[in-house]
Amino acid sequence: MTHLLVRAARGERTDRPPVWLMRQAGRHIPEYREIRAEYSFREAIETPDVAKRITLLPWDLYEPDGLVMFSDILTVLEPLGFDYHIESGVGPVVENPVEGPDDAERPRGDVADDLSFVGDLLTKLVDEVGDETAIIGFAGGPFTLASYAVAGGASRNHGPVRRFRARHPEAFRTLLSAFADVVRDYLEYQAANGADVVQLFDTYAGVLSPADYREFVLPLHREILDGLSVPSIVFVRNMGGRLDQLDAVGADVVSLDWTVDMGDARAELGDRPVQGNLDPQYLFGEQSFVREKTREVIDAAGPRGHILNLGHGVHRDTPVESVRAFVETAKSVER
Ligand code: CP3
Repeated sequence: MTHLLVRAARGERTDRPPVWLMRQAGRHIPEYREIRAEYSFREAIETPDVAKRITLLPWDLYEPDGLVMFSDILTVLEPLGFDYHIESGVGPVVENPVEGPDDAERPRGDVADDLSFVGDLLTKLVDEVGDETAIIGFAGGPFTLASYAVAGGASRNHGPVRRFRARHPEAFRTLLSAFADVVRDYLEYQAANGADVVQLFDTYAGVLSPADYREFVLPLHREILDGLSVPSIVFVRNMGGRLDQLDAVGADVVSLDWTVDMGDARAELGDRPVQGNLDPQYLFGEQSFVREKTREVIDAAGPRGHILNLGHGVHRDTPVESVRAFVETAKSVER
C-alpha cells in the first residue's frame, strides 16, 4: 500500500489532503516534557527506544498521516567533528564553532557509524507503525547548519555566518559543501532504513540575498536531493517573492511558510506539489477559527499534490485540542 502522504508528494489527486505538523513530536505535548525531565536532549535523540516513544506521542493523540522521526538537524554536526548540546532556555550550543577560514575544512566521519541510532530508530518505527502511516526522515540544509557552526548557536539574523561569507567566501563554500556531502549521505541512509519521505530543512537560507542563495546554496540543494530514492520536501523560510528559486531545487514538494499565499504559490509553481502553510500562531485562536483557516488552506491548495502542514513548527504552548482540530479538518474533507 502506498501511503496517502507519498501519493500527494508525487502529485496525485487525493480524496483528502494528508496531514502532519513540523515539530509535532515536541514540547506542546505534556508527556514529552515528562520524558525530557528524565533524559537530556541528546540522550533522548540518541537512544532509539526513547526517541521512538517520543515520535509516537503525536500518533497516540492525532494519528497524523506522517510521523516525523524524533531527532534534530544538528545530529550531522558530529560526523564533521563539532560537539554540541541543547541548553534549556538558550537553545543549541556548538562547543567548538568555526572561528576562521581554516576551520571550514572538516574531518569526515561515516554517517552509518556515527548516526546509527537514527537507522535503529527508523527500523523500529517502520516495524511499529509503518503499515499505518508514512515515516518522515529529515536533515538540516547546509546554510542552516553553517549558521549554527559559525555562530556557535542561535544568532540574530544570522549575522555571523553572513559576515563569514563576506570575509571568507571560499571557506564559506567549503563549509557548505562539507555539510551538503554529509547531508546527502544521511538522507539516503534514512531512506535505506525505511523513511518513506524526507524533508530538507534549510530553514534560514532565506536570509541570504537572492544572488547568494543562487550561487552558494541552490546548487547544493539540487545535489543533495538529486536522485534520492524516496520523495523529498524542501523547506526554506522567507522565500515568498522568489518561489522560482525554491522550485529550481527540484524537490518533489515545496514546503511553504505562512507569508506565502497558497493560491499565488499554486499559480507560480504549476504542477509542483506543495506542503503547508497555516500560520502556527493561528492554533492559538478559537477552534472554530482553526477549522475555518485550515479549510481555507485546503481549498486554496486544491485536490492534487497537497500535504497539509503548518508554515513552520508547532509552537511549544499550543493547545493539544487545536492541533486535533487542525488534523481533523484535513481528515473530514471528502471530495
Ligand atoms: O518535527 C519534529 O517533531 C521532529 C523533530 C525536530 C526537532 N527539531 C526536535 C527538537 C525537527 C524536524 C527539528 C528541526 C530543527 N532543529 C530545525 C529546522 C526546522 C525549524 O523548525 O526551524 C532547527 C533550526 C533546529 C535546531 C534546533 N534544535 C532548535 C532551534 C531547537 C530549539 C531550541 C529551543 O530551546 O527553543 C532545537 C532543539 C529541539 N529540537 C527541540 C525539539 C523538540 C526542543 C528540545 C527541548 O527543549 O526539549
